[in-house]
Amino acid sequence: MSDNKRILVTAALPYANGPLHLGHLAGAYLTPDFYTRYKRLKGDDIVFICGSDEHGVPITIAAEKEGVKPQDIVDRFHEMNKNVFEEFGISFDYYGRTSSKTHHETAQEFFTNLNNKGYFKKKTEKQLYDSKADMFLPDRYVKGTCPNCSYTEAYGDQCEKCGTSLSPTELIDPVSALSGEKPELKETEHWYMPLGDTQEKLEKWLDTRKNWKPNVMGQVKSWLNDGLADRAATRDLSWGVPVPLENAKGKVLYVWFDAPIGYISATKEWAEQKGTPEAWKDYWQDENSELYHFIGKDNIVFHCIMFPTILMEHGGYVMPENVPANEFLNLEGKKLSTSRGWAVWLHEYLEDFSPDLLRYALGTTLPESKDSDFSWKDFQARVNNELAAVLGNFVFRALSFTQKFANGEVPKLVDPQQIDLDALKSIETQKEKVTQAIETFKFKEAISEMMNLARAGNKYFTETEPWKTRNSDPQACANSLHVSLQICAALSVLMEPILPDSMKKLRNQLSYSGKVSWDSISDSMLEVGNSIDPGEVLFTKVEDEEIETQIAKLEERAAANDPTSKFTPLKENIGFEDFMKLDIRAGEILEAEKIEKSDKLLKLKVDIGIEIRTIVSGIAKHVDMDKIVGQKVSVVANLAPKKLMGVESAGMILMAEDTEGNLKFVDTEAESGSTIT
Ligand code: MF3
Ligand code: ZN
Repeated sequence: MSDNKRILVTAALPYANGPLHLGHLAGAYLTPDFYTRYKRLKGDDIVFICGSDEHGVPITIAAEKEGVKPQDIVDRFHEMNKNVFEEFGISFDYYGRTSSKTHHETAQEFFTNLNNKGYFKKKTEKQLYDSKADMFLPDRYVKGTCPNCSYTEAYGDQCEKCGTSLSPTELIDPVSALSGEKPELKETEHWYMPLGDTQEKLEKWLDTRKNWKPNVMGQVKSWLNDGLADRAATRDLSWGVPVPLENAKGKVLYVWFDAPIGYISATKEWAEQKGTPEAWKDYWQDENSELYHFIGKDNIVFHCIMFPTILMEHGGYVMPENVPANEFLNLEGKKLSTSRGWAVWLHEYLEDFSPDLLRYALGTTLPESKDSDFSWKDFQARVNNELAAVLGNFVFRALSFTQKFANGEVPKLVDPQQIDLDALKSIETQKEKVTQAIETFKFKEAISEMMNLARAGNKYFTETEPWKTRNSDPQACANSLHVSLQICAALSVLMEPILPDSMKKLRNQLSYSGKVSWDSISDSMLEVGNSIDPGEVLFTKVEDEEIETQIAKLEERAAANDPTSKFTPLKENIGFEDFMKLDIRAGEILEAEKIEKSDKLLKLKVDIGIEIRTIVSGIAKHVDMDKIVGQKVSVVANLAPKKLMGVESAGMILMAEDTEGNLKFVDTEAESGSTIT
């Protein structure tokens, strides 16, 4: 690896359809941040790119679930995720989004380029269609039985039970996720990437890749051995990048065609923002640049097969140097699942602990070569036994001792003994080991070698007993402190990629004013006489109760989302302002009559104190019509009026519904017209 190469690092663009959790951080964001921070310290020319993946079925399904527009969903989660990354110190140079104009244009240019070259195969095929919803059912819009393992809840693009990737028509007994109806088959035309045709070329390129992780190359080889199939680059959907062709109305690019191009669009926007709009080309179109994609294992095929093929066919772009993908992170021994509530949300974590603690704890448990497990107990142990007991303790001992017994200044080193020289030497040795490990993407090893320097420092401090030599041999005491402080200074830069906030604090406590760079890490970073100020401790212990609270929170949430539970899962939190928009009033039913031609609806006259309302309510099957006159009810009074079976209904009667679908009134003793909050 030559030193003057430019480097472009990308982290998988997360779908902007929900908040981020621990698995995201451990899978695709911490490692590129460690890497980038290290490279910046080395003085390399490096750009770190990420952004929101705002297209695809995950977004539209999230929008439908909430009854809002896809744009509302992506606007909300783009902001939220961008902020959470920032709070965790994930140091992107630019966080873009695939709904941007630049992205649409860039993705369309790629499609047009490949299309003009005659790369795509156009195919007319029968696909699943929901006539009720009047739309085709790509990917997750269909559910059915997996042909591989017979799991009955498999999606049209993948079975989450056995991991097989599927196409919607392979599902047995498919149903529409929109209407629950059995879909019909309807002809439609799509543009396919004939990946098999370019497989050989791709394999030749893959053969030139060096130092790829075995878990990544293994998965790639297995795809190649099976032979690459055609993959559609387009979809019949209304949300996405429109296919830039006259004869492709109503079609958009497949999300996995457009999303990786998002790395390019975001780099363009980064360059634009910097005032050097052409600068993106230095990273994407110049041989002297290296491209690294950091991702989780479910993204391997797209980054190692599909996107490289797109880049290769387009031409003029650099190909990925390496794709250091991680495996999955489990949580307390179980698979992470957002739908089952088995997740630790990053924004919630931040309410209780500081970012550095999780950066470190996750860094030591990364699923680098196989799946790994995060547990709160382990988190506590990492913080207490390593950050606090080793690193924090060592730093505190060295600094507070200097303050008390050396006037708060770095003392002189005179006639050092072997033990002093050995301790100083460990700085260079550990720096070398850390460098080696990071260069080969072994971040767990790097972190453990960093901590080993703190361990060596701690041991040295204990062995040289400066609290004894203070009286018996003042120069030996001064040497102990000098050496210990130099190790602290070295740690404050060496560990900066993992613990940016704490190491900055440490540098302040050491009044370190030198360069913060990898080259500066040495055994003589602090000058004699430099003032030292212990200040607050860097890491405090995490108490048992704090951990118990976290575990209880997790279990409560999981119980509430348990599909076998007799209650429906809790909905997402809403803001107080949203709640206050509802105007709920106490009321009383004055009259009830059946609506003709409907066996469900009743037309009610309801006194809500201020006025008498006509409300149509779907409760005919659940109540005895003759007995409900005089019933006290709760009424949503500011629901926009709506015509139902020709009757204008002004408001809604609140009903409690159990999982069987039985409805009961939400009774109240309050006088009609009282507000319910
Ligand atoms: N949104 C995808 C996911 O969360 C990742 C997209 S990575 C990109 O799995 F390369 F396509 F951008
Ligand atoms: Zn299956």
